[in-house]
Amino acid sequence: MRIPMIAGNWKMNTTVAEAAALVKEMRPELDRIDNVDKVICPPFVSLAAAKELLKGSSVKLGAQNLYFEEKGAYTGEISPLMLAELCQLVIIGHSERRQYFHETAELVDKKVQAALKVGLKPILCVGETPRENEAGKTEEVLSRQLSLTSKQAYHTGLVLAYEPIWAIGTGKAATGEQANQTIGFIRRHIAKQHGQEIAQSVRILYGGSVTADNIAEFIKQPEIDGALVGGASLKTSQFLSIVKQTSEIKRVK
Ligand code: 13P
Repeated sequence: MRIPMIAGNWKMNTTVAEAAALVKEMRPELDRIDNVDKVICPPFVSLAAAKELLKGSSVKLGAQNLYFEEKGAYTGEISPLMLAELCQLVIIGHSERRQYFHETAELVDKKVQAALKVGLKPILCVGETPRENEAGKTEEVLSRQLSLTSKQAYHTGLVLAYEPIWAIGTGKAATGEQANQTIGFIRRHIAKQHGQEIAQSVRILYGGSVTADNIAEFIKQPEIDGALVGGASLKTSQFLSIVKQTSEIKRVK
């Protein structure tokens, strides 16, 4: 059984004070919800405060990026070792980083390996651009993005997030069936690469314009194990509703 996961990617939003207020507001309700791995990913500068506020909580903390070296002359970067002290997970290869910061597949894979080395669980993002989607290249793009991820990475608990770029921040989510089909493809591809056992155990989330109004459509799908939520994760009532619905829909009766 794959435990569902809902992860909130706060992106470059909230000051430390705002992040702390949001964590305080969400924590009590989130702690009442079982059957879901609940993750929030505030900006780096708020991780320490969030960690303090989440002492004894079932809510896990994630970072949004990292650098692959452990220390040294890399002005402005944040290392896996620094993050390992603060959080349990880290988003890697988000399309915004691939697009705006020119992160290549090789760099993304180095980051995955660096995270695993210090015990941080990567949430590795994959997804196609609108142009690739229109050209029917989705499967080719996803296969390429997944080509470097090792068996070891899956064994260590790496989580995948399928985020079609045309659905991110656009309010134009994929349909549940579309997302289920593509995530099904990803699972079959991993089965070919690394075997059925890994393919069946890896958690694959959907991301892109997920809200409290459409989460059920995704979560009902058998291949979809949860969501990576952007905008809606910054609104307490939306995020709580997304987590609650996931807990109920995925509960084994
Ligand atoms: P939105 O939910 O705001 O579309 O963002 C999705 C995303 O990029 C999560 O990582």
